[in-house]
Amino acid sequence: MTAPKGIPAVTISRVHEHVGEVVRLQGWLYQRAGKGKLYFLKLRDGTGFIQCVVFKGDVDEEVFAQAGKTKQECSLEVWGEVRQDDRAPFMPYEISVQGLRLIQVAEADYPISPKEHGVGFLMDHRHLWLRSRKQHAVLRIRHEVISAIRDFFNERDFTNLDAPIFTPAACEGTSTLFETEYFGSKAYLSQSGQLYMEAGAAAFGKVYCFGPTFRAEKSKTRRHLTEFWMVEPEVAYLDLEGDMELAEDFIVYIVQRVLKNRRTELETLERDITALEKIQKPFPRVSYDEAHAILEKLGTGHVDGEDFGAEDETRLVEQYDRPVIVHRWPSDIKAFYMKRDPEDHSKVLAMDIIAPEGYGEIIGGSQREDDFDLLLERIENHDLPREAFEWYLDLRQYGSFPHSGFGLGLERTVTWLCGIHHLRETIPFPRMIDRLTP
Ligand code: 4AD
Ligand code: MG
Repeated sequence: MTAPKGIPAVTISRVHEHVGEVVRLQGWLYQRAGKGKLYFLKLRDGTGFIQCVVFKGDVDEEVFAQAGKTKQECSLEVWGEVRQDDRAPFMPYEISVQGLRLIQVAEADYPISPKEHGVGFLMDHRHLWLRSRKQHAVLRIRHEVISAIRDFFNERDFTNLDAPIFTPAACEGTSTLFETEYFGSKAYLSQSGQLYMEAGAAAFGKVYCFGPTFRAEKSKTRRHLTEFWMVEPEVAYLDLEGDMELAEDFIVYIVQRVLKNRRTELETLERDITALEKIQKPFPRVSYDEAHAILEKLGTGHVDGEDFGAEDETRLVEQYDRPVIVHRWPSDIKAFYMKRDPEDHSKVLAMDIIAPEGYGEIIGGSQREDDFDLLLERIENHDLPREAFEWYLDLRQYGSFPHSGFGLGLERTVTWLCGIHHLRETIPFPRMIDRLTP
């Protein structure tokens, strides 16, 4: 049966604009329930979920029979009147069905049934799993975070400058480089666009890049992907203090946007919203030395001079109800490009921001070394090939300038905002040490 002419096709996200009208919805069957004279077809179309009620007394026999042939995730078109009903699932509207057309119904049962499946199975079926309600909510929140990120920088006169993905050298340490053959020589997949943003800051003042970055992470943890998205602002004439303020404003902005526009999704995920509402300025700022002293008191076993483990981060941030900024890190454990603290040469002007509730580091940033000789010394000490960094050294040769920036990991941020356990669900098709498909 095809829909009578003239019935407008609308998306589920817009049905509230058509109460009392007959509309046509195109999508897939999420679930069917029914008894006797009634079928409840839960339909999804990518913009939302809605209940469509097929009452035997209201429709042709054939329509009712077709409704009975629907199967989970079959594709179909449904038309009927939009009714307001506060008791309806998903939203306070439902469709009183007048007709429907099955587009395709599979022979086999849909692999993902409402019963519990293991994560390995679901990840193998990621191409289908994306349709489920929880995954849909997570990825819509990801989308909101992405638009908030762009709006934040655009509103503040940043220029978006894209960084290359094929690069000649390491930015964040040589142990996590993906190497690839490049016309007879070697190239590496970018670990960070930062070095290019520094060139951009000298050309445009305030810039940001936002794209995929790659790390050959050999560890299997709930916080590591081998391909993840990072947004990296870089600002001329900004010092570490200014960098921390920018990062703080940025996080508050993102959280507010998600709270404002993605309530439904947060509720679907049963996220504790009050925890997110507490994310306000100012964030506590503790130096690395202070943080170490706190951890020592808490007895986490943190060793002075070393990086924080997951346990250290969790215990430290538990002392507060918002993200914590840890600044002035030992230079030995940080990247070559960070500026030395003029007051303590064993430290660099770096900062990490640790998310609340055990979600770990979401931002890493610093003021950059702007002295030619000191930078060269660091490049040599790190055994990095000088040739690959000549262009980067040029930035300290011609009009060197104080500047700072940071990188925020998109998936870690979305994991925290969604309150989910593992970051693999926050990217459409995750790449990890043991996963390259689908
Ligand atoms: O701390 P990182 O390594 O900093 C940089 O790459 C700097 N160049 C950024 C800059 O100053 N422009 O990485 C920044 C953030 C981390 O805080 C974390 O959120 C995320 O990127 N990140 C990862 N996310 C998922 N999987 C991984 N393997 C990640 N490694 C880092
Ligand atoms: Mg870091």
